[in-house]
Amino acid sequence: MEIIDQYDPDLPLDHASTIPASWYINKDFYDLELKSVFSRSWQLAGRADQVSKPGRYVTTDIAGEPVVVVRGGDGVLRAFFNVCRHHAAAVMTEAEGKAAQLRCPYHGWTYSLEGELKGTPDFAGVCNFDRASNGLKPVEVAEWENWVFVKIDGGAGTSLIDFLGADLVQQTSGLQLKDLHWFERRHYSFDCNWKVFVDNYLDGGYHVPYLHKGLDSVLDYSNYKIENGEHHCLQWSPMVSEGAEAQTGAVRKGERALYYWVYPNFMINWYGGVMDTNLVVPRGVDQTEVIFDFYFPDVMSDEARRASVEVGQRIQDEDVAICNSVQRGLNSRAYHSGRLSVRREAGEHLFHRLIYQDVRQDSSC
Ligand code: FES
Ligand SMILES: [Fe+2]
Repeated sequence: MEIIDQYDPDLPLDHASTIPASWYINKDFYDLELKSVFSRSWQLAGRADQVSKPGRYVTTDIAGEPVVVVRGGDGVLRAFFNVCRHHAAAVMTEAEGKAAQLRCPYHGWTYSLEGELKGTPDFAGVCNFDRASNGLKPVEVAEWENWVFVKIDGGAGTSLIDFLGADLVQQTSGLQLKDLHWFERRHYSFDCNWKVFVDNYLDGGYHVPYLHKGLDSVLDYSNYKIENGEHHCLQWSPMVSEGAEAQTGAVRKGERALYYWVYPNFMINWYGGVMDTNLVVPRGVDQTEVIFDFYFPDVMSDEARRASVEVGQRIQDEDVAICNSVQRGLNSRAYHSGRLSVRREAGEHLFHRLIYQDVRQDSSC
């Protein structure tokens, strides 16, 4: 409570400070976030194309909880805790695949694609065992655009579409994202708290002229806009071709670059008809994995796709060093919190207030 109350969520942007350094370095606070932020929010579990047919499945873990998402024989998409009801082994062990049934590798218990317990080898004579109540435990699941989301702590919470909000759903529906197809995934490791990466993303382009010279050459920095929704922030910029740095200019074309952040840890970056997404995965109080997925239209050549991915890679490499540097500074006795730019950092302000809302709720009950 003492740490939580160091932040005042009621101050308007021009009076506000960032959340305090302790929120980025305290292990108890990190554990609280896993429970109150990651377990209760809609989390990306996979791509819709991975589970488009009956029997297709993906596995993931959300805040330490193993989850499997599978399309049933009846065509319905379901998600379950990927934890066998016998002795808790993971039932599905591949990242994705196709199966006729879900068979645990440990003692061979089998579950239908709909999660019912079907086979229990050598289990005759076990008393008071109700097979019907020993199916896989369900998890909430929903699809939106190219993605599948799950929420492991169902409760009475909001549906995915309500959570995203009409604005975001309507805006993205105009982008024809479903015409873009997944091409490649890349993983990046950061020695920082997950919120450092999100803060860096949400600074309204503030760091772009200093850290990303290539990217800066194609964005119209002075016309960069920041639009907050209830649970998302859109940052966007007109794009320019004159004076563009060659490598970046070749693959970052079009009229606008759109950067959507969806609370708490998912980003959609769209520029001139190509897209990448970022999933920010906490791996420890000062360890973060960021997963990039790159999507392109079918008409684009492999060579152009690879060139586009390489530009994304370069921008990430530039961000890794600064995020790690920020984490070291957050550990310093010299730093407690910092002020926010009214022109640039409204997205961070929204992020910090949403985190506060979630952790405060938990600490008061
Ligand atoms: S743990 Fe799955 S069958 Fe025993
Ligand atoms: Fe950056």
